Amino acid sequence: MALQKKVIWITGASSGIGEALAYEFNKKGAHLILSSRRLEELERVKENCSDSEESVKILPIDLSESEAMEKKVVEALALFGHVDMLINNGGISQRSYAVDTEMSTVRRVMEVNFFGTVALTKALLPTFIEQKSGHIVVISSVMGKFGTKYRSTYAASKHALQGYFDSLRQELYEHNVDVTLVCPGYVKTDVTINALTGSGEKYNEMGKGQKNAMPPEEFAKKLIPKLAAKKEEIYLGGAELMGVYLKRFVPGLFNKILKRVKVT
Ligand SMILES: NC(=O)c1ccc[n+]([C@@H]2O[C@H](COP(=O)([O-])OP(=O)(O)OC[C@H]3O[C@@H](n4cnc5c(N)ncnc54)[C@H](OP(=O)(O)O)[C@@H]3O)[C@@H](O)[C@H]2O)c1
Repeated sequence: MALQKKVIWITGASSGIGEALAYEFNKKGAHLILSSRRLEELERVKENCSDSEESVKILPIDLSESEAMEKKVVEALALFGHVDMLINNGGISQRSYAVDTEMSTVRRVMEVNFFGTVALTKALLPTFIEQKSGHIVVISSVMGKFGTKYRSTYAASKHALQGYFDSLRQELYEHNVDVTLVCPGYVKTDVTINALTGSGEKYNEMGKGQKNAMPPEEFAKKLIPKLAAKKEEIYLGGAELMGVYLKRFVPGLFNKILKRVKVT
């Protein structure tokens, strides 16, 4: 897919992976719609892009407000006249034992990661179906493929995305609309700093896994050619990706390994 002037809508574009994707797509001449809650951070990302007045637009979105998504889609379509690719990247993580995780926190994570993403995608779907083209990308996680301690709700939200978008892909083949699920391993972003504790406070610590992980710029550079090739599922990360294959082929052994490994 030539990216020149393609309209790419990125949620969670104010930091980390979404920000890095914005810069990389901007270098390739794409037109961008940047969404997340923090307007001033979106403005900063826009300013760091070249030719930004012409090619970068901002559309603040709070993914916890599912009912607002139809209106947001109308606004997004008005910005460049159409959308070619939606990258559902915005999300929050969680670090707490399940027993200590309040239901309000479980609902909050599901609301942002799952319901918000589904509501936004569903609101855009009729347009993609009508134009007989479009690419829906979901930034899931290896936690969408297996679960570990301290991440029960986060893993649940990503497993839910996997199930939903695997099914949706089957429905969209006949409409020429593509669905890509991306499963990153560790990427060096603020995702754990921004994660929720059991009571819903900010975790405020950089996770050990993230500290020495792939920088988001490298992640974005590696991801874009795979998206352009319209791969249906993409894994990007380090040794933690082995978990996906161990879970699939030797689940009993994998559980024994996880039981002993110190997961933080
Ligand atoms: N970093 C990793 O190791 C890793 C691994 C696997 C998967 N992922 C996934 O990658 C995606 C991006 O995360 P990241 O690593 O780049 O972390 P990050 O730096 O914390 O970025 C999260 C993004 O999501 C946005 N966001 C959070 N709550 C939102 C809400 N209610 N409404 C709209 N936007 C919201 C944030 O923007 P605002 O605060 O401005 O709203 C921010 O732009 C997430 O889905 C995450 O689960 C990350």
